[in-house]
Parts: sequence; structure tokens; C-alpha cells
Amino acid sequence: MIVDPHYENIQKACALLKKGQVVVMPTETVYGLAADATNDKAIEQIYQIKNRPSFNPLIIHVKDWQQAKNYVEKNEWAEILTNHFWPGPLTLVLKRKASANLSSLATAKLDTVAIRSPCHPVAYELLKQFGKPLAAPSANLSTEISPTSSKEVYLGSHDLFILEGGQCQIGLESTIIDLSGDLPTLLRPGGISLEILEQYIGPVQKGLVSKAIKAPGMLKRHYAPKKSLRLNVLTNQEDEGLLGFGLTDLKVEMNLSPKGDLCEAARNLFHMLRLLDRSPFPKLAVMPIPHEGLGRAINDRLQRAASNEH
Ligand code: TXA
Ligand code: MG
Repeated sequence: MIVDPHYENIQKACALLKKGQVVVMPTETVYGLAADATNDKAIEQIYQIKNRPSFNPLIIHVKDWQQAKNYVEKNEWAEILTNHFWPGPLTLVLKRKASANLSSLATAKLDTVAIRSPCHPVAYELLKQFGKPLAAPSANLSTEISPTSSKEVYLGSHDLFILEGGQCQIGLESTIIDLSGDLPTLLRPGGISLEILEQYIGPVQKGLVSKAIKAPGMLKRHYAPKKSLRLNVLTNQEDEGLLGFGLTDLKVEMNLSPKGDLCEAARNLFHMLRLLDRSPFPKLAVMPIPHEGLGRAINDRLQRAASNEH
């Protein structure tokens, strides 16, 4: 059920959350399946509905840095980054406070917490009125494409309370930076580019992205269409629906951004992959995307979407 996000419906969503149920909340990145982050039973439902392995921890969503400080230890980089980029598509992995009242299932029993403050008025209202943090993974079945509009939210046969929030402005999940070690480390490229973050905190290690030990479940096939996907294609075959980028003479079915704008491409990526997955073409292909700025996150998602590794 998709509902208008007016006051009464936000109150209804809060009532469901208080009862330990899940609701779908729009964010600027993707739609999230949200539950009370302090309630083990509620969190259990997220893993079950998404068919997500329980060793893969969730992101904890808060209203602001003030609220976050109830759950995570002080950190100088976090002070700088949250000051500039919160609310926004930036998740910080920080040491968990011993006193933090968070479901250990949500954080997969780790001594760190991945936390972010989403920049979407509906998410903000929900967090404000609920008063407690919300754990929220993307509102799709594990390994499938994340939803960037309310109509794309699909979790099998579950009839969910979905707050309408329009088209997601960023269209890709948040960037995840681990600040719990000696040096900031990128765990997942996302909605804020590394280049911009580095202007504020200096060099960020990128080593762990490929190994992704810290963010389990990130190596495998993910964000995946049903059809096969070929990357960096400059000559497509007849049975391939081609997803373009930038000005091109190739025969493209859809174009992520005809003017070669990486923000526009990020916003369109998941939606266009979905549409092509439903097109008559038996196979999909995508043109090269530059590995800079948001292009890093786009290439990361495309590589996982194309992977056959489960
Ligand atoms: O944009 C987003 O971040 C969206 C919206 C809904 O906020 N959420 C999202 O959640 O992408 P999810 O569950 O799809 O991705 C969470 C990622 C996983 O890769 C997980 O491994 C990682 O965060 N993660 C969570 N807690 C962590 C921790 N303590 N240390 C390292 N990685 C962690
Ligand atoms: Mg996801």
C-alpha cells in the first residue's frame, strides 16, 4: 500500500514501527525497508522479508549527528564529515558506544555501527516523530535492483506500508566510509564522490572495496537484472539492449545521460536497468562509464549487476 506522507500517515507509520513492524521509507538514495533499530524482533523481520543473510549488518538511520552521538563514539573525522555532508548520502562506520541501545542483530554483533542521516523530508519527519533510530536496508529482495521510486518497491508477497516520497534524487546507495580504524577507508562507493570527501579529511584508503571483508555480502552478485549484462561495450550485438552514456552514434535503447552527466546517470541507473530487464532484448549491455566522481559508484553497481558469482 502506497500512502501519501501527510502527518496522519507518518503517525500511522510510527504506530506500526512501535509495534515492531516494518514500513517503507523514501530516502534521497533509494527506498528503505525500515524497522525500530532497538527492537530485535522488528529487525528479524527485515532479514526475513528481504531474504538477507543475518551476518550482513544494516545501516542505522538517525535524524541528525546529535542523535547519532547516543550510539557511536566520538570521532574527529566524523565531526568534520557530518558537519558538511549530513543529512546526505554518506554512511559512517564508527565504534559502537558501550551504552548504545541498538539491536545486536541489526549490527550483526559487530563492535561498530554504520550510521547515516538521510536527506529526504519524509525520512526526516518519520525519524523525528518516531524519536528512535531506524535500521533500513534497500527495500528490495536481497541481490535484486534497489528501488528508486515507490512503485518499484517489491518484497515478494508482503503488503507493506509505503510512504510516497517521489523519485529518489541520488538514485544510488550512500557512500560508506569506515572511520573506526587508523585511516578512513572506503567500504562502498556511493552517492557522494570520494574526491569531494577527500577534500575534507585527506586521503581515504580504497583497498578494502575489492576485498570487502568489512561489508559482507558486497562481493557477490547484487543489484542484478534477470538478464545477462555486458560491460564497457562499444559494439553491441543484435540481441543486446544497449544502455548508453554520453553522445554516441551507437544504437542505444536508453541513455543514462546523453549529455554525459554522472549525477544524472546515477539517478537513472537502477530505473533504466529495470526497464531494459523488461524489454524484448534477451541480453543487456552498457557503454563505458568514466571511473571518476559518481562514476566510481556506477561502475561498482554495474560490476556487481554483471557478476555471475553468487
Ligand atoms: O543509501 C543507503 O545506504 C540505503 C538507504 C536505504 O539508506 N541503505 C542501504 O543499506 O544501502 P544496505 O543494507 O543495502 O547496505 C548496508 C551496507 C552493507 O553492505 C553492510 O555490509 C554495510 O552497510 N555495513 C553495515 N554495518 C556495517 C559495519 N558495522 N561495518 C561495515 N559495514 C557495514
Ligand atoms: Mg541493498
